[in-house]
Amino acid sequence: MADTLAIMKMSPVIPVVTIHSVDDAVAMARDMYDGGLKTIEITQRTQVALEAVRAIAQAVPDLCLGVGTVWTAAQAHEALDAGAQFIVSPGIADEVGAVCRDADLPYLPGAQTVSEVAHLVRQGWQQIKLFPASVIGGPSAIKAYAAVFPDVRFCPTGGITEQSAPDYLKLPSIPCVGGSWLATPATGDEPAGQSPTRAAAERAARLGR
Ligand code: 3PG
Repeated sequence: MADTLAIMKMSPVIPVVTIHSVDDAVAMARDMYDGGLKTIEITQRTQVALEAVRAIAQAVPDLCLGVGTVWTAAQAHEALDAGAQFIVSPGIADEVGAVCRDADLPYLPGAQTVSEVAHLVRQGWQQIKLFPASVIGGPSAIKAYAAVFPDVRFCPTGGITEQSAPDYLKLPSIPCVGGSWLATPATGDEPAGQSPTRAAAERAARLGR
């Protein structure tokens, strides 16, 4: 199983997807993978999220499939049973970390403040989701965080767009960003016959490269 840092390095963007329809989710995941993105985070915020995780794991088996917005040990076990290959929390959730440690499952815990990052580092986590990244001050804030935690690698998420992502990805402490912008409706700029998600994924896969 890949470790968390290896997962962060798979693609410059981890799409964060909130699912409302299992069929749409499978199609979207396939488009993202075919567009060049190797990871995805499905948020555990809707009733159909875990059903979608099971369906995506079967339909797009090479996609590295994460489950996010995981706050409790019970949710972590459910995500693992559904086929999650990594778990994400938008903030501190030590009981989720304990489940991941026991299961040897890659984990990306979340922090907003320097003290929260310090707490996670004390727990042994060196790869951290910074959320909401745009609110804490964007790339310049993360540059300051990285000076204090030189060994930590951050996945900033929250308020990041296709336009702002390159400024984050320039920083050596940021192997990837997270964002929900890939699951947005068509703009009309996509090549003919191509789904907007696939076109957005192709552009995202090239960001920072
Ligand atoms: C998350 O769960 O990481 C966020 O909802 C993603 O934030 P965004 O929608 O601003 O990209």
